[in-house]
Amino acid sequence: MCYNCGPSRRSFTTLLAAGVGMAALAACSPDTRVASPTSAPSASSPQTATPAEATTTAVPTATASASPSSSAPPSKAPPSGVLSQQFSLSDPASQWVIVNKHRPLTPLQFVPADLAQPRVQLAVSGEASLLNSTTAGAAEKLFAAAASAGVTMTLASGYRSFQTQTATYNGYVSTRGQASADTASARPGFSEHQTGWAFDIGDGGGACSFEPCFADQPAAVWAKANAYKYGFVVRYPWMLNEITGYYYEPWHLRFIGVEAATDMANRGIGTLEEYFGLEAAPGYP
Ligand code: DAL
Ligand code: ZN
Repeated sequence: MCYNCGPSRRSFTTLLAAGVGMAALAACSPDTRVASPTSAPSASSPQTATPAEATTTAVPTATASASPSSSAPPSKAPPSGVLSQQFSLSDPASQWVIVNKHRPLTPLQFVPADLAQPRVQLAVSGEASLLNSTTAGAAEKLFAAAASAGVTMTLASGYRSFQTQTATYNGYVSTRGQASADTASARPGFSEHQTGWAFDIGDGGGACSFEPCFADQPAAVWAKANAYKYGFVVRYPWMLNEITGYYYEPWHLRFIGVEAATDMANRGIGTLEEYFGLEAAPGYP
């Protein structure tokens, strides 16, 4: 089990000194990472998805209705018949917006209109402590439930502006090269953090922060099992990088609403791409 395959403290320090700040840590996803024995069938094997996994469409697709406030073009959504509401997959203000290496934000420099600081234990300040208002409210419930279960959870990185993501991504490119950077950090305009619908969690003590071994920390274990009840999914699951484009990030939670997250969990669907019947996005076109 490799617990030393993440970036060294020196590389973190370098990024921080370069002005990248905590946001750089938030994007940490070393390309050599492996998951914990509890979460991976084979901890020593590289993360690859089978072709079948990569092309599976677990939820039938159909033309979706965009959210009433959306001016984005129509897109697909799951007509599962179970969900009472449908939302746009293209509008960055929609809780179902899908952002991946094939789907940049539109507009590229989108800024949420309703950024708010959730009343949760913060490990960061300023921009990184913000979420959109819906996600902030859901995060408060998530963190309270974790606390009730005896699990300490911190908000380690929330909203990132286009400019911050640019600095974060460029920091990775300069230290690791572009190919490796692209496995860990989204290019500016391609990050869920810019939507306000996603954030990274820590455990309060800094144990394994943004490292593969975070998967074994109580905050990650609890979130993996319970986050769906509060509307969140672990956006970049183990072994599904050929679909999502990123290696396992047990700290990165994405809000899609309680109904959809519960539906995904009940169906055992791991990625938003599969759930919404979208193509896999392992790399930039
Ligand atoms: N680490 C995730 C993919 C991001 O940079 O948004
Ligand atoms: Zn993240």
